[in-house]
Amino acid sequence: MKKLVLYCSIDGNTDAVAHAIADKIDADTARLVRVKKVKGFGFFNNLKLRMEVIGKKKPDIFPFKWDPRDYDLIFIGTPVWYDSYNPVYNTLFNVIKIYDRKVALFSTGEKEDTKALAKLEEDWLKDSVILGTKHCVEPIWCDEESETKAILDDMAEWAQQIADKAEKMIEQEEFERRKTIYKY
Ligand SMILES: Cc1cc2nc3c(=O)[nH]c(=O)nc-3n(C[C@H](O)[C@H](O)[C@H](O)COP(=O)(O)O)c2cc1C
Repeated sequence: MKKLVLYCSIDGNTDAVAHAIADKIDADTARLVRVKKVKGFGFFNNLKLRMEVIGKKKPDIFPFKWDPRDYDLIFIGTPVWYDSYNPVYNTLFNVIKIYDRKVALFSTGEKEDTKALAKLEEDWLKDSVILGTKHCVEPIWCDEESETKAILDDMAEWAQQIADKAEKMIEQEEFERRKTIYKY
């Protein structure tokens, strides 16, 4: 089963989770990177970014060598921006449509509760099989290293369960396919 962890990250929190997941389940990683860097978080910059999210803008991203559609299981990770997902996904999914793929979504944010992943699913992933969603609070900014480790371990464990579930589903699908073809 081919596995990909697709993610974007500005400050490194989502990056840390993406790598914890990829290491655990032995997946490729693909990072979406904005061409124009986010320059600080003053009042005007925040306003600009908020407008990007609300207006579902498509910021330019650097060329991207992976095609998520080549993978059986795709983890998609985003930092929460204004209770939504990062707008780089508008850029990607406007060009690459993902459907009929097994997908799991994760996010990192300042707060515990967020609707970002539900929005990502609703806007771009309605035709995929969503195997799970999980959010965590900024892992790399914990006071203690042990807290960071606990969050990353928890996310990696969740990813392992998703990967096991996907594996079983693929086996079952293959079994059904053979039954149809060979009638046994
Ligand atoms: C522009 C902007 C908007 C944000 N909005 C939210 C938000 O609505 N809710 C939340 O919990 N965190 C919010 N955050 C915090 C980030 O989601 C959080 O720091 C995340 O872990 C950053 O991920 P990264 O380090 O991978 O970039 C926001 C951060 C930025 C920069």
